[in-house]
Amino acid sequence: MNILILGSGGREHALAWKIRQSEKTNKLYIAPGNAGTNLVGENVSIMATDFSAIKRFVLEKEIQMVVVGPEVPLVNGIYDFFLHDSDLKNIPVIGPSKEGAKLEGSKKFAKEFMVRHNIPTAKYKSITKENIEEGFRFLETLSPPYVLKADGLAAGKGVIILNKRIDAIDVLNRMLSGMFGPASQTVVIEEFLSGIECSVFVLTDGKSYKILPIAKDYKRIGEGDTGLNTGGMGAISPVPFADDVFMKKVKDQIIEPTVQGLLKEEIDYKGFIFFGLINVNNEPYVIEYNVRMGDPEAEVVVPRIESDFVDLLEGVAQGNLNEKLLTIDKRCAATVMLVSGGYPEVYEKDKKIEGLEMIKETLVFHAGTVTKEGSIYTAGGRVLALTSFGENKHDALKKSFEVAEKITFDKKYYRKDIGFDL
Ligand code: AMP
Ligand code: GLY
Repeated sequence: MNILILGSGGREHALAWKIRQSEKTNKLYIAPGNAGTNLVGENVSIMATDFSAIKRFVLEKEIQMVVVGPEVPLVNGIYDFFLHDSDLKNIPVIGPSKEGAKLEGSKKFAKEFMVRHNIPTAKYKSITKENIEEGFRFLETLSPPYVLKADGLAAGKGVIILNKRIDAIDVLNRMLSGMFGPASQTVVIEEFLSGIECSVFVLTDGKSYKILPIAKDYKRIGEGDTGLNTGGMGAISPVPFADDVFMKKVKDQIIEPTVQGLLKEEIDYKGFIFFGLINVNNEPYVIEYNVRMGDPEAEVVVPRIESDFVDLLEGVAQGNLNEKLLTIDKRCAATVMLVSGGYPEVYEKDKKIEGLEMIKETLVFHAGTVTKEGSIYTAGGRVLALTSFGENKHDALKKSFEVAEKITFDKKYYRKDIGFDL
């Protein structure tokens, strides 16, 4: 089958790498891709949000499945675009409908969904300019720190946590006055939950589901989880505290009610559900839903999947996922992200990357890279994800850290403490 993957990061390289291994894959294209995806498939210079260009390409190349990496095309309704187009309606899109994508595209929608289905999550209030007084009163009922979330997509920057109520009031005012544009016209104020986080992924055909390997990512730029938030500096899978007892709670209280809730509400959902969870005294709570794989979690989750991934995706598309087999590699996978110095603030691009040809065992997933005249250059803040396997996290990390030293580019930086809290 001819497959098109949309997106351009490490997640998409990991998906492309895995899809390439399937005997069911014939041609594999990635739009727009990066220097790494072009090694396992063919890059196409189309943006993941340009639906009409995607349509032309899909018809021209006889694409039989579209796998959507990032959230924006999903929130913009790519699933419905295909479904309602007479030429495209039989080509499956792996990802939820526009309504389903609201689980990520609107924090208010996600919170209301959780309340309707009795899914554990932090107490909250949705606030607009109209009921701002209610927001101030709700803040008075909470103890610090205060969590404010822009309702809509804000490129991962829409959550602000403040220690003082006076600052929370100020930020609430600013968010409602357009701090994140239309995304913060509505703000969700939440009770702060204290615990350790993990990411749980399921693949669903809308009726049944498979739980993929559990992962933990490291979002802050600095060691010891300090400094600014990034797109992710590394990840580990599995997560020791997500043991059978914890996962049973996750399944019964969170995954089942979510999938059943979507079904009951007749929300079309054939794709990944990403549960951002927090463990509060051994009880799981949902911090957020995402409607895609995580990044850098995909770089450890996908390599641990042993089964034919395209066969699983066919099960999603055809609605017979329950008949498919999912087997998981028992070993630990760790990924360490090499980033450009200065990221997530100002950083330089166009630095030549050297040493890639020396790497044998470790998987090198490209995030922000381009090929120019046969060499590979940095093209983003997050540059390469280095994924290694080991019997435990120490073994896996040791290999990735060794490789992190061998690969060089000007102003390279990475965190040397990935997994420190597990
Ligand atoms: P994101 O939504 O990925 O930008 O990240 C938001 C981050 O804020 C989460 O990963 C948590 O670390 C934190 N966070 C969000 N909501 C809460 C909450 N209710 N309590 C504590 N931390 C939270
Ligand atoms: N690693 C978190 C995310 O993909 O949103």
